[in-house]
Amino acid sequence: MTALDLSSPVAVVGTGTMGQGIAQVALVAGHRVRLYDAAAGRAREAAEAIGARLDRLVEKDRLTAADRDAARDRLLPAQSLSDLADCSLVVEAVLEQLDAKQSLFRALEDLVGEDCLLATNTSSLSVTAIGGALRNPGRLVGLHFFNPAPLLPLVEVVSGFATDVSSATRAYEMARAWGKTPVACADTPGFIVNRIARPFYAEAFAVYEAQGADPATIDAILRESGGFKMGAFELTDLIGQDVNESVTRSVWQSFFQDVRFTPSLAQQRLVESGRLGRKSGHGWYDYGDDAERPEPHTAEPAQQPAYVVAEGDLGPASELLALIREAGIAVREEEEDHGTRLVLPSGGQLALADGQTSVEFRDVVYFDLALDYRRATRIALSASQDTAPGTLAEAIGLFQALGKDVSVIGDVPGMIVARTVARIVDLAHDAVAKGVATEEDIDTAMRLGVNYPLGPFEWSRRLGRNWAYALLDDLHLRDPSGRYAPSLALYRHAYASDKREGSTS
Ligand SMILES: NC(=O)c1ccc[n+]([C@@H]2O[C@H](COP(=O)([O-])OP(=O)(O)OC[C@H]3O[C@@H](n4cnc5c(N)ncnc54)[C@H](O)[C@@H]3O)[C@@H](O)[C@H]2O)c1
Repeated sequence: MTALDLSSPVAVVGTGTMGQGIAQVALVAGHRVRLYDAAAGRAREAAEAIGARLDRLVEKDRLTAADRDAARDRLLPAQSLSDLADCSLVVEAVLEQLDAKQSLFRALEDLVGEDCLLATNTSSLSVTAIGGALRNPGRLVGLHFFNPAPLLPLVEVVSGFATDVSSATRAYEMARAWGKTPVACADTPGFIVNRIARPFYAEAFAVYEAQGADPATIDAILRESGGFKMGAFELTDLIGQDVNESVTRSVWQSFFQDVRFTPSLAQQRLVESGRLGRKSGHGWYDYGDDAERPEPHTAEPAQQPAYVVAEGDLGPASELLALIREAGIAVREEEEDHGTRLVLPSGGQLALADGQTSVEFRDVVYFDLALDYRRATRIALSASQDTAPGTLAEAIGLFQALGKDVSVIGDVPGMIVARTVARIVDLAHDAVAKGVATEEDIDTAMRLGVNYPLGPFEWSRRLGRNWAYALLDDLHLRDPSGRYAPSLALYRHAYASDKREGSTS
């Protein structure tokens, strides 16, 4: 089924934030849409709100007045559930409670025709559990839209254990016909996006809790070096700390308190104190007319080194050598079997973040991973109390000579971008191995659902097959809680590549 079947109406039950957005999507795609909400008058209010949004689309020339009028005529608030009997699809977006959703679907099953597809927009409940209430759970599928549904293209099409392949296919094709980008996934906690995105927040909070850097600095590094649209602190202030924390908590609980998903104490304190982000006027940052956004730590100008010696292959950071030469700094390349470093004139060394700490080596400064060293406008450096001040100054001067702002953070293993990306890559491999989704769908979901600059597998390919595994293995040694333990899937991935490349290690 590729064409839209517009012969029978679509119903949206629960006409709050998500229901309204989903109804608008179906409406603009050409459907007749019935709106039903348990709260009296809510469906009518929702119809008016959708109408007002269509008016704005006309003002912005994104919809013709004639199409707006036709869409308004196709939108019908329903008085009771029985008004939905002739619908070919019912999308449920009621409150996030298992018994509420189960009793709704039970009632719907007695009303609608055999061919009617039932869909839930749940973000944290199990589609399988919801379907447990149905005589025919095969017709129930998860259709997980993202907020705001009319704008965000991603839809996760979730198959519960009992969902018929034909139901999932219908839902997938319907989402596509609505102009969305569907991805298929299994019914596991957090589905794709809410599962694989957890380390983006967790690692930023962990670096902050370890006194590695302040929120403004971590955000700036994630944006300007990592290539993320927003940093974790500013993004969670926008989402709402309560909303973000409850997703983390739900994924963590659903995985039987798996340490890889442990919520952040600092974020919990924020929620407990009512500092929920933009909506409450305070979160990690303060909001309001006279609130000032703190500046990220940025190092004072330092003298650039006259030359560097590059030992070994810098791997994901090899682009740096060209940049250093372009800045007029001489680079001497030397073969090196062990380690990949830049040696500075003082004798101190500069190494790409690798999951070890600076204090373990004599005179080493670490630099963080960048999405693209040429385009990055900021680079994080970390040093220990044992690093010679001259080495740190040379490292700062080197990156400043490349036109970068430099943020010096604490001696945190894996730094900020590197540990975040390594953990995202790991969870993505783990998810594929557990049958959650394909590599391609995971990449699509993370780019469209949370705006990542690259999907985890694209990123992993750029970094080299072994990179994330090696970094996490080092981190796991230094924090044996299990939080950083690389998954079996990532281990297999790294080991397979070693064998292919003929390594004996
Ligand atoms: N808000 C988001 O960002 C988001 C994103 C994706 C998925 N979701 C999921 O979408 C669903 C709805 O979330 P929301 O944010 O739109 O909630 P909301 O509170 O804005 O709206 C829920 C609506 O459902 C109505 N309702 C409650 N019980 C009902 C019932 N038994 N029958 C009919 N109507 C009923 C309420 O009156 C309310 O209008 C939840 O399952 C949520 O997890 C939310």
